[in-house]
Amino acid sequence: MAWTGRCPGCGEWNTLVESVVPKAPDSASGGGRRTGGAAAPGRPVALGEVVATGTARHRTRIAEFDRVLGGGLVPGSMVLLGGSPGIGKSTLTGMALANLGAGGAGTLYVSGEESPSQVRLRAERLGPEALEVRVLAESSLETILATIESERPAACVIDSIQTVHRSDLSGAPGSVGQVREAANALAETAKRLDVAVILVGHVTKEGSLAGPRVLEHLVDCVLQFEGERERTYRTLRAVKNRFGATSEVGVFEMRSGGLTEVSDPSARFVEEANGALGSVILASMEGTRPVLVEVQALVSPSELDIPRRVVNGIDRNRLSMILAVLARHAGVGLGTTDVFVNAVGGVRIDEPGADLAIALAVASAGRGQPLSGRDGRPLACFGELGLTGDLRYVAHADRRVREAVKFGLEPVIGPRAGGAIAGLSGSGTVREALRAAFSDSSTTAVTEAA
Ligand code: TYD
Ligand code: MG
Repeated sequence: MAWTGRCPGCGEWNTLVESVVPKAPDSASGGGRRTGGAAAPGRPVALGEVVATGTARHRTRIAEFDRVLGGGLVPGSMVLLGGSPGIGKSTLTGMALANLGAGGAGTLYVSGEESPSQVRLRAERLGPEALEVRVLAESSLETILATIESERPAACVIDSIQTVHRSDLSGAPGSVGQVREAANALAETAKRLDVAVILVGHVTKEGSLAGPRVLEHLVDCVLQFEGERERTYRTLRAVKNRFGATSEVGVFEMRSGGLTEVSDPSARFVEEANGALGSVILASMEGTRPVLVEVQALVSPSELDIPRRVVNGIDRNRLSMILAVLARHAGVGLGTTDVFVNAVGGVRIDEPGADLAIALAVASAGRGQPLSGRDGRPLACFGELGLTGDLRYVAHADRRVREAVKFGLEPVIGPRAGGAIAGLSGSGTVREALRAAFSDSSTTAVTEAA
């Protein structure tokens, strides 16, 4: 094909992608294509007659990883693990292979980025089992496929998919065409040989997976590994999962011997919260698990015409909405101040139940009045704000409250529940919730203000 810089269809530049065109059917065979007579028809069968292959999963014995996967790696499936550089993708996949290998499964770690000696250095930090993992430093797709054919591992990691390329395609490694070809071929091999494949993928600054979105459609499961590199906490969440829920979140901490699971993140986060000005505990739900997360706010006079709204771990538009509701319905006006809001620990919260925590943290910072629960412990809350200033019910109120109560954070400020929930101080509006939060803790105990 001649080089074409501009798409004749849409007129955009540099959007064309080279792909492989299957050989055209032989037109000499009597126009079979028009009548559809060339191909023999397939034979549909009732689903009940389909022989379901045994779906015994490979457990990586990294509980947080297995849980996010929906119970372990499914043989023959392909998982895409995305995350920014340095977040710990190679560490996590290396640990998973080490455990699988120790359990007797065949493993293959294909490294296109690091040399075997670099991979070994990491493995040394992870322990003796990691040194048993079989490594192949290779980026040629043909060689990788041939190796999988001959090694027949139970689990194979491709680190990273962006480095893999097919030699007869002209695109550079990491280009849309190359990544798609590589993923397609690997998916086919994975299915045929029942190999569980994990593709490691890079993520751009904006947080989306570098390379084509098409990759996300191709794989069975898309996992995102997130966190701030300077911080030790990492969260792993499923964005797509054909074999499990997408709401599960795993929490890890990067230590000197690799990633350790934080099986009780609430304990960590509450321990670090000190009930300072602008700090509140959000009783959040991460998938099927309640997690207590500290939300912090800072409010300061702005020197800008348009004051700053800076967020970390929460949605900026959500903050704008909450500020508007606070101004309109709770008399907390912050039109001339900069507002910063943080979900602590590098956690990302994207559920409406976080609204009240953001509102209370901001109000506390704005008023210069710290929030505290009983015995000077941090104050816990949850609830969604409506545009009319109402405080709305959110799912799993009982489990959120129970989690907070478990850590002695009682009463929990939240929306009114249908039935009574022990430990919940229910409010119908954000104004009421603020009143409950800022009044003396001993009197707020079970106020259901009229
Ligand atoms: P890595 O897994 O290489 O990240 P990625 O593959 O996502 O780019 O490791 C990320 C960081 O973790 C790296 O800066 C070194 C650090 N690290 C530890 O702190 N402890 C360890 O045991 C290991 C293996 C790495
Ligand atoms: Mg890496």
